Amino acid sequence: IAPIERTLTGLRAQTAVWRKAGESIGVVPTMGALHQGHLSLARAARETCDRVIVTIFVNPKQFNNPDDLKNYPRTEHDDAAKLESTGVDLIYVPDADQIYPDGFATTVTVSGLTDMLCGAKRPGHFEGVATVVPKLFLQTSADKAFFGEKDYQQLQIVRRLAKDLDIPIEVVGCPTIREEDGLAMSSRNLLLSDRSRIFAPILAEVMTDLRAQLRDGAAMTEVGAEARARILAAGFNEIDYLELRDGTDLGLLDKTQPGARLFAAAWLAGVRLIDNIAA
Ligand code: PAJ
Repeated sequence: IAPIERTLTGLRAQTAVWRKAGESIGVVPTMGALHQGHLSLARAARETCDRVIVTIFVNPKQFNNPDDLKNYPRTEHDDAAKLESTGVDLIYVPDADQIYPDGFATTVTVSGLTDMLCGAKRPGHFEGVATVVPKLFLQTSADKAFFGEKDYQQLQIVRRLAKDLDIPIEVVGCPTIREEDGLAMSSRNLLLSDRSRIFAPILAEVMTDLRAQLRDGAAMTEVGAEARARILAAGFNEIDYLELRDGTDLGLLDKTQPGARLFAAAWLAGVRLIDNIAA
């Protein structure tokens, strides 16, 4: 099992040794409650980097809802066991003061990309992400960082901030891993009741059908409402968004075009699920 490091000093002592030996470092930032989606990122890192660090930190700054932070699954022991098969070298589980010491006062804001989709629905969320991610990059001094397309908007924001802040790291996007029934894997799926779990895959199913319609030439203004109705009829309580957007600047689209993606976020019995697919 990979060693767990909880302090920045300890982390830096280890990465200094690796650097001195000329080894490249990959980082996989996570909030724990690991599933096959996270493990696929660790494996992608394992394939292309000499050393792999998985970070586990439930970042309070990116939770806009105190209950969500409180209920977020914490399964450190299981997480470490799951990582064993991926051959990671170090698990960095920083104590809160290693990330936010007393007096911490800096917030990173990425304009534009953070205003829409989840940014519009979760005020402060992406500032929290954009503040912690560069710290994890700089603390680990990684050469490559691996992120899932599951959180596509986050991936684009991270690419932007790494570029804007001249952080010498390559941001690698990896495909969304799904359950057999199509539900995108998510730590939040653990919060679904057995009954909700049965209906959850309908979100991905509706998106796939909608994509087929868009590829046949339909416009969102023509077919979006019916897709929404299907999601609600399946038992979802509320749809935060179901939108077609450009995959790079996330600008809103009505008809599909090369690089377009469909984005959805919807609430199922108190659990917020998100998904996106190439359109
Ligand atoms: P978390 O939700 O734990 O996700 C960690 C990484 O795993 C993210 O890059 C996310 O996109 C990826 N991931 C989650 N589900 C996936 C799936 N089904 N398939 C592929 N990749 C998946 O995202 C965060 O944590 C945080 O915001 C973080 C970046 C760690 C900053 O706190």
